[in-house]
Amino acid sequence: MSILEIRNLHASVGEAEILKGVDLTLRSGEIHALMGPNGSGKSTLAYVIAGHPHYEITEGDILLDGESILDMEADERARAGLFLAFQYPVSVPGVSVANFLRTAVSNVRGYTERRDDNQSGVIGSNLMPMREFRRELNQKMQEYNVDPSFARRYLNEGFSGGEKKRTEVLQMAMLEPKFAILDESDSGLDIDALKVVADGINKLATEDRGFLMITHYQRLLDYVKPTYVSIFHGGRIVQTGGPEVALMLEEKGYSWVEEHFANAEPVSA
Ligand SMILES: Nc1ncnc2c1ncn2[C@@H]1O[C@H](COP(=O)(O)OP(=O)(O)OP(=O)(O)O)[C@@H](O)[C@H]1O
Ligand SMILES: [Mg+2]
Repeated sequence: MSILEIRNLHASVGEAEILKGVDLTLRSGEIHALMGPNGSGKSTLAYVIAGHPHYEITEGDILLDGESILDMEADERARAGLFLAFQYPVSVPGVSVANFLRTAVSNVRGYTERRDDNQSGVIGSNLMPMREFRRELNQKMQEYNVDPSFARRYLNEGFSGGEKKRTEVLQMAMLEPKFAILDESDSGLDIDALKVVADGINKLATEDRGFLMITHYQRLLDYVKPTYVSIFHGGRIVQTGGPEVALMLEEKGYSWVEEHFANAEPVSA
């Protein structure tokens, strides 16, 4: 059992404070949905957890199994078992899906560290051996219904919404993170892409993995049953509960959130 604890987290970009005291605990086996209006800071929270260097943490902590991860670089956090799927995935012309995944998997499984051993004369490689990687990739592509031709395509270049999501799920399946943070741009997702995400999460949601799922709409939650749903507003969590919170949001809308929680105190989720 693993635990990811976000404690009184404050973060800024330049002069602007964006996260204003976030308290959230995520345990393996849980799916925690985070919903809230545009600009409330949801993506910022995801980036800060992943270790994006753009944000300055001014207060608070993030603990993975009791240890602070704030001093870790993004790649160390990935090795520690954190996975972030971006709201706006970048395309990388010239880098195939297979090569990208091989590099990512090699980092997470510690192959990149062996390069240093190399320099000191110990034989090793900084990449997972090709054959082994290929075998595993093929097997996971089959398991997650990803067309084999995908592996040769350039990452996200010309990918449809559904294809991007499929790549993301495949990436998760290969990296086997302890915690996955998914920032969903539902606006661009057609129903097919939504189902890809949902099927992927449901398949990967084992009892030793936790999900933080950022989403705008209830509709993703029609396919993925969250353990908890929290409302994010003004850089913090203002309400938390079960799936009924998402239903309430759907009914009342975000203008209600803006009004109702205008001066709300933060809560722990
Ligand atoms: N790098 C940055 N530079 C300046 N302002 C930023 C930066 N990143 C985020 N912000 C600001 O922080 C606020 C929160 O942005 P964020 O993207 O986290 O919101 P969000 O809740 O994910 O919104 P959405 O629902 O539209 O995805 C916004 O006002 C945004 O303009
Ligand atoms: Mg966002």
